[in-house]
Amino acid sequence: MAKIFVTRQIPGKALEELAKTHEVVVSPFDRPLAADEIVEMGKGAEAALTLLTERWTGELMDQMGPNLKIISNYAVGFDNIDVKAATERGILVCNTPSDEVNEAVAEFTWALILSLSRRVVESSEFADKGAYRGWEPHIFLGRDVYSKTLGIIGLGRIGSMVARRAKGFNMRVVYYNRDKDTDEEKELGVEYLDLDSLLGQSDIVSLHVPLTSETRHLINKDSIAKMKNGAYLINTSRGPIIDEHAVVDALRSGKLGGVGLDVHENEPATNPEMMQMENAILTPHIASATVEAREKMTQQAVDAIVKVLSGEKPNDLVNPEAWLSKRIQATDSSSRIAVAQAQ
Ligand code: GLV
Ligand code: GLV
Repeated sequence: MAKIFVTRQIPGKALEELAKTHEVVVSPFDRPLAADEIVEMGKGAEAALTLLTERWTGELMDQMGPNLKIISNYAVGFDNIDVKAATERGILVCNTPSDEVNEAVAEFTWALILSLSRRVVESSEFADKGAYRGWEPHIFLGRDVYSKTLGIIGLGRIGSMVARRAKGFNMRVVYYNRDKDTDEEKELGVEYLDLDSLLGQSDIVSLHVPLTSETRHLINKDSIAKMKNGAYLINTSRGPIIDEHAVVDALRSGKLGGVGLDVHENEPATNPEMMQMENAILTPHIASATVEAREKMTQQAVDAIVKVLSGEKPNDLVNPEAWLSKRIQATDSSSRIAVAQAQ
């Protein structure tokens, strides 16, 4: 029976199903694992079901042994995995994008936008303290989103779902993307702008790009200087896309009107200065945290493993180039590994 190592217990029933036909080893610890713990429990596994809280380096892949065929990452993002190192080793890497998880992230993006513009968190804390003394003309004045401009950086699946919802709020939606997508523009009723124009025209800027060497600190002192005074910044993608020092300065000076951040530059740490600010809503990386999305993610991560272990190409392969050089099933119970010929 092929050994499958799961680095943490995850929601849904799919792991139980998998355990009927495979040797499933799940970490007993309800916390992120260190690399040596992963090796200790997971060595020899043919598949690893991994979380974004682990760093999968080439070294770790080697320590897991030559049987490892697939890293199935329980996330849409996969910046925690050295994909190049995996490809060089013939290890397949899969992620879990689906309509369920993308819609969940788009909904949460909107939860942040509306909470920020209508001061939901601050006013709830106020009421919880028993401070409410009766209706007042001036308390907790926020800002409409109606008729404002929403700037979406990264019009992929999640960015498009955020845009679609903005139309219901009667907003102007502009986007910046590496590639201009004219069909998508027509369908969604959005306008392409170069990055500087988007920053200069948007009342709310929302980030939906993956973390890469090009997007790290995309939002920094210079890009913030180009933004509208009092604009809001929302991030449900990856923390290091933002230079938090620059954001703190901009919140202090009033250049930024507020931020809604679900992801943080130094996770799990949240920025200590922003934690003190009323107009910074910080949440603990929960944009995909719905029962529906998380169960779907478990199923999808498991399906990829089952497919790969039975020799089939998985659906959400992030390194399709590794398919040609993938490690294939050992033909006997020894740990001998044959390497498929490129075809
Ligand atoms: C969560 O951040 C994910 O990438 O799924
Ligand atoms: C943001 O919505 C603003 O009013 O500037």
